[in-house]
Amino acid sequence: MNKIKEFNNEINIENKKIILRSDFNVPIVDQNIKDKTRIDLSIPFIKELVARKAKVYLISHLGRPNSKIEKNLSLEPIFRYLKEKIKSNIYFYSEKINNETVNKTSFLKNSEVMLFENIRFNKGEIDNDEEFAKNLSNLGDIYINDAFSSSHRKQASIHKITEYLKSTYAGPLLMKEIKAINMILNNKKNPVTCIIGGAKISTKIGVILSLIQKVDNLIIVGAMANNFLKYKGNNIGNSLIEENTDKIIKEIYDMANLKNCQIITPIDFGVSKKINGNSIIKNEKNLKDDEIILDIGPKTIEKINNIIEKSKTVMWNGPAGYFENKNFLKGTISIARKISDRTIKDSLISIVGGGDTISAIQNNMSELNFTHLSTAGGAFLEYIEGKNLPGIEVLK
Ligand code: 3PG
Repeated sequence: MNKIKEFNNEINIENKKIILRSDFNVPIVDQNIKDKTRIDLSIPFIKELVARKAKVYLISHLGRPNSKIEKNLSLEPIFRYLKEKIKSNIYFYSEKINNETVNKTSFLKNSEVMLFENIRFNKGEIDNDEEFAKNLSNLGDIYINDAFSSSHRKQASIHKITEYLKSTYAGPLLMKEIKAINMILNNKKNPVTCIIGGAKISTKIGVILSLIQKVDNLIIVGAMANNFLKYKGNNIGNSLIEENTDKIIKEIYDMANLKNCQIITPIDFGVSKKINGNSIIKNEKNLKDDEIILDIGPKTIEKINNIIEKSKTVMWNGPAGYFENKNFLKGTISIARKISDRTIKDSLISIVGGGDTISAIQNNMSELNFTHLSTAGGAFLEYIEGKNLPGIEVLK
């Protein structure tokens, strides 16, 4: 297997222009950053580049603006935060990127930083466009991808850009993620349990089918579980549902039977008539038509805890409920605590990932301990599925 080109201390970067692709895709509400984990993890490396006298051109996406400028998806709040944290001159480049950008940005001095506005405001980014990638590559001498969590995207600042620069490397955060996940996948002990949450089953079908062949228990939580409940004939009230998933679910159960994998879905829930309401506990048989499932209930938590108790390896991605309302955070926190306790006491091998998962447990983070905490969601799932990530392949 080809080795990933890793950025290291010996590379002379003094006076060099570095294009650093980070992932600052964080939740922002009314200009306030709700979870800074991804940014905080990126800062030490930015500081290192500054200390080593490079000129740092910083790129990230935020949300999915579909090539249009959306004020609420501006990186300005992130710029303000970086300004506080990085003790060096830092500029914000708010224009779109084209063939004039290189001249407009060339004033940057050694140890200075320039953050570009949301790269997805540029159409060429999503299209992995050649012309756009060339313009982007002209901004620097060296390209470093430190955004493992975006590396499953075949987009210009992750993929195409590498065709136009000789010096392309993986940054320390990306390498840390890959090494940790590889270590766990290579050393995992049975029984292995995987917990998957989130809303959309159709985007995770590949990873679910692949995991069924590798794990002993697959626990489905979050809105995705609603599709399973409905498939089994339960009333799910007014809960979020994805249409036309029966075929996918049948395929999942058939594969699970074949591979001897146990599929576990919730048996009780925290429900409410509105997402900002209080939690009432209901089971799968007594849900009313106007109620929405927003969390897993105590019996489900107990069932999941028992499975974690008997597992030797646990992988978890995606919250168990609508964590944005703390009344529905209980399931997610309980799973986090159980995995953490067993990691500390019984050396359970645990790997926890996903932007939402981290956001959900951020306030409890100081008391939690996992073998590896990944900032990646989709990329993490695709990586454990065994897929080649486009952004990683081009760094080999
Ligand atoms: C993530 O949050 O998983 C990454 O930032 C990738 O975002 P995307 O799914 O919008 O490409």
